[in-house]
Amino acid sequence: MLLELVLSKPREWLLAHDTDPLAPEVAAQFLTLAARRRQGTPMAHLVGHREFMGHRLSVSADVLIPRPETELLVEMALQSLEDCTKRCLPSPVTGNGAGCSLLDLGTGSGAVAISVALACPTARVVATDLSENALAIAQKNAQQLSASVQFWLGSWYEALPPEGRFDVIVSNPPYIALNDPHLSQGDLRFEPAGALTDGADGLAALRHIIVGAPQHLVNGGWLWLEHGYDQGEEVAQLLLKAGFNAVQTKQDLAGLPRITGGSL
Ligand SMILES: C[S@@+](CC[C@H](N)C(=O)[O-])C[C@H]1O[C@@H](n2cnc3c(N)ncnc32)[C@H](O)[C@@H]1O
Repeated sequence: MLLELVLSKPREWLLAHDTDPLAPEVAAQFLTLAARRRQGTPMAHLVGHREFMGHRLSVSADVLIPRPETELLVEMALQSLEDCTKRCLPSPVTGNGAGCSLLDLGTGSGAVAISVALACPTARVVATDLSENALAIAQKNAQQLSASVQFWLGSWYEALPPEGRFDVIVSNPPYIALNDPHLSQGDLRFEPAGALTDGADGLAALRHIIVGAPQHLVNGGWLWLEHGYDQGEEVAQLLLKAGFNAVQTKQDLAGLPRITGGSL
């Protein structure tokens, strides 16, 4: 990947030219990047992008590097939007289901909102983040991928202008407890603390989002949340307490409880 970057050549070219000598300046660039990688800098920061749901997203130190397990959050969102589209009467003009809407709270690089908008272009997709720098990256990604997403800056629901309710709300909020040793390991050392930890017990942001959701969802609307592998039971209890039905937890590809949701 680093050679692809310094040579601006695709993988196939590298395979076909595997005995070509490297120009000294290219070799020097490669060695500098390799040294940074050895010191722990994430590959996504060195190459400047990460693939998510088949889309190439620009990333920087201002955003969480999108994780494969978050693709499950997109899948659940799309399933809920599909159910919503079926419930909606077809428009006499377009023939499509009357526009369903989705809110992505804490969008970071825009990974979830952009993937939903591209997979379901009839949906109205809105995304928020507390970080201005993160929103700038998300906006750039949406533009590069021609995804139609409306972005708002601010804390959770407070970022939203007064408007109607959403059919689906999704979020992958910071859910690592402040004292969790993982925060000082691996890629996490290079990612924004505000994207990783709630500064408390790991459930503060999840609680806030769950408690506020009923005021922002339509009747029958769905809320889906990503959480830590050991938070599924607590998140399910919080959803039940807030009045959600059909509460369920989905496992990620590693078989860990990762996404919990329910409908109003
Ligand atoms: C775990 S990251 C998720 C990023 C992206 N949705 C993803 O899945 O790759 C959490 C995001 O929540 C944002 N965030 C943290 N506190 C927030 C708040 N009070 N209001 C809105 N967003 C917040 C962070 O800036 C960060 O972008």
